[in-house]
Amino acid sequence: MSKYQLKWGILATGGIAESFGRDLSVNPETRDRKDIEHVIVAAASSSSSDRAKKYLKAVNAPDSAKAYGSYKELVEDSNVDIIYVATPHSHHYQNTMQCLEAGKNVLCEKSLTVNAAQAEALIKKAKEKNLFLMEALWTRYFPLSIYAREMVTSGKLGTVERTFADLSFGSAPETSFEDSHRMVNPDLAGGALLDLGIYALTWVFQTLYTTQKNPQPPTVQSSMRKYEKTGVDQQTTMLLSFPRKEQGDAHGIATTGMRVASDPNGNMEAPAIRIQGSEGELMVFPPAFRPTRTKLVLKDGTVDQKEWPHPGPGPGSGFKNGFGGNFMPEGEGFGMFWEADECAYALKEGRKEGKYESLDESLVIMKVMDEVRKQHGFTLPEKIETTKYPVDL
Ligand SMILES: NC(=O)c1ccc[n+]([C@@H]2O[C@H](COP(=O)([O-])OP(=O)(O)OC[C@H]3O[C@@H](n4cnc5c(N)ncnc54)[C@H](OP(=O)(O)O)[C@@H]3O)[C@@H](O)[C@H]2O)c1
Repeated sequence: MSKYQLKWGILATGGIAESFGRDLSVNPETRDRKDIEHVIVAAASSSSSDRAKKYLKAVNAPDSAKAYGSYKELVEDSNVDIIYVATPHSHHYQNTMQCLEAGKNVLCEKSLTVNAAQAEALIKKAKEKNLFLMEALWTRYFPLSIYAREMVTSGKLGTVERTFADLSFGSAPETSFEDSHRMVNPDLAGGALLDLGIYALTWVFQTLYTTQKNPQPPTVQSSMRKYEKTGVDQQTTMLLSFPRKEQGDAHGIATTGMRVASDPNGNMEAPAIRIQGSEGELMVFPPAFRPTRTKLVLKDGTVDQKEWPHPGPGPGSGFKNGFGGNFMPEGEGFGMFWEADECAYALKEGRKEGKYESLDESLVIMKVMDEVRKQHGFTLPEKIETTKYPVDL
């Protein structure tokens, strides 16, 4: 059987681009996917082609892969099927628009943009050009997430009334980040909400919205604590109410912050997510972006704990992946390949969006984050919020 080969171009060479690139090198057969393969055919760095060369080496790309010193060269490369945009979210709108304008399919890192108007403009452009566009919410494509959603749709948890979800790091901004760091820098769309809160929202949405037959956008209330030095949010709490016709409203509590961690001792002892229904609950252990453990507790006495390690080339392979200096055990995949596989299947089948998060849903989530920011007067610089294109950032 001939395999469908997806030819990737990587736009930006920072931390997450390395994690993603390394996962692309893992043979899909290690996760029972025998009909697709991934290859990196080019990478571009805005700083230099040397930087792109180093990146290609670090992710073990084939020698034939092209190294570009500008994003423009990458979007013009006719050998590239799809571009992975891995710049800070401040740049997603400009970079993704550049790719779409050049006729490229795009997988864009989260958050898709900094506001809903930008997301809407990208979606419109992708539709106009008949291109594939997907927000890189990798967690949605994990087998663990598929299982969690099935626990809701199968009725196993009864009527799901509430989901709590948190993604927070215990890294107080005043001691952890220089003001120029992308986590706190408004010019790079810093703050907990757009960087971490999107994962708390992902869990609330994928259990209370994605799983509904005719989902309706939630109402939103929120609290926000700003970081005085730079004006971005350092702690945000959101209370969402999802209207449901027959079962009544379901509540989502999404929290994020930089002062207290979801996982205080790093041992995944307290759940980061609790999906609660009339028949029981599913706990998902941290981190919310890459969980590997669940515990189902039902009224009837069932207690079912599961481990969800990501497959990979296995011990002895020399393969290692991770992010931010935290590496997984040798041979274990990081898990970014699940979303890459979804891109391959979508393009193979002619689909224009991701199966587990439609573009409409990405847009509703951007609208929720807009509303939260509006409730607290949290704006970003005009050049970051604009829908004008092109703008030099
Ligand atoms: N999926 C996940 O788990 C995950 C984890 C972390 C981050 N992310 C998302 O991925 C994106 C990038 O995060 P990261 O941690 O990889 O950031 P990073 O290490 O700072 O890398 C960002 C890269 O973007 C490029 N870039 C272009 N213009 C830039 C500018 N003005 N300032 C800084 N960088 C610029 C640079 O690459 P070149 O010099 O090569 O152009 C830089 O290396 C963010 O949207 C973030 O939310 C996702």
